[in-house]
This record gives sequence, C-alpha cells and structure tokens, in this order.
Amino acid sequence: MYSEKVMDHFNNPRNVGELKDANGIGQVGNSVCGDIMKIFVKIEDGIVVDTSFKTFGCGAAIATSSMATELIKGKTVKEALRLSNKAVAEALDGLPPAKMHCSVLAEEGIKSAIEDYYKKQGIELETVLKADEE
Ligand code: FES
Repeated sequence: MYSEKVMDHFNNPRNVGELKDANGIGQVGNSVCGDIMKIFVKIEDGIVVDTSFKTFGCGAAIATSSMATELIKGKTVKEALRLSNKAVAEALDGLPPAKMHCSVLAEEGIKSAIEDYYKKQGIELETVLKADEE
C-alpha cells in the first residue's frame, strides 16, 4: 500500500495551483489512464526559484507532483533536469509497482516545463543537454 509520505503529499499537496509568473509551463499525460499533469516553473539565473503544479490524476500522480516540485525548488536547472522518476518515488518512501508510471509523469512534466522555458528564448533543450555533457 501507500507509504505515509505518499498519503501526506496526497492529502496536503505542496505547491499546488497555477504559478502566475511562471516562465516555463509543461503539460504531459498518460494515454492509458488519461491522467494529466501540468508543471509551472519560474527560472532566474539558472535556478528554479519557484514551481507549482496542477494535476488531474490519481493520488500517486498528485503525491509525485507535490514531491517533485519540492525537490526542484531552489535547485539549478541542470539538477532539475537530472531528477528521475525513481528519485521522486524514493523520496516518497516508494510507490507500488503499478503506480510507478505516475512518477514518470512528474519527471516528464518537469522536463517539459524547462524545455518550454528554453524554447521561449529560442534555445533547444537538446543544445543545453549536449553542452552539459561536454
Ligand atoms: Fe495515471 Fe497514476 S494512474 S498517473
């Protein structure tokens, strides 16, 4: 079943709602369950200074959105891009195997929001990732 942390983030989600001054917005969905996750980021000088989410989805999707936004807040964009769905699930003390796909939405949602931020500046995310590898 669900860990206490999952239940806590489901019952008291952090960073919920629209971020009015977001400069990156990402929306991802899972075609199988039909759940949708929207992630907002505000990036300044390479730091995710604020972030929030709106999730139309299952309890695990809400808990992972909440935890994922907590994990990237105040971090560099590069660190946020490295956040994996496994790390989000681990931070929640695990998810049932059937619910791991929900955490994938959180990872993808964050990447999508950061990608949108770069796109608005005419920069492809691929270029940023490549520069990071060098
Ligand atoms: Fe769809 Fe959880 S069941 S995201």
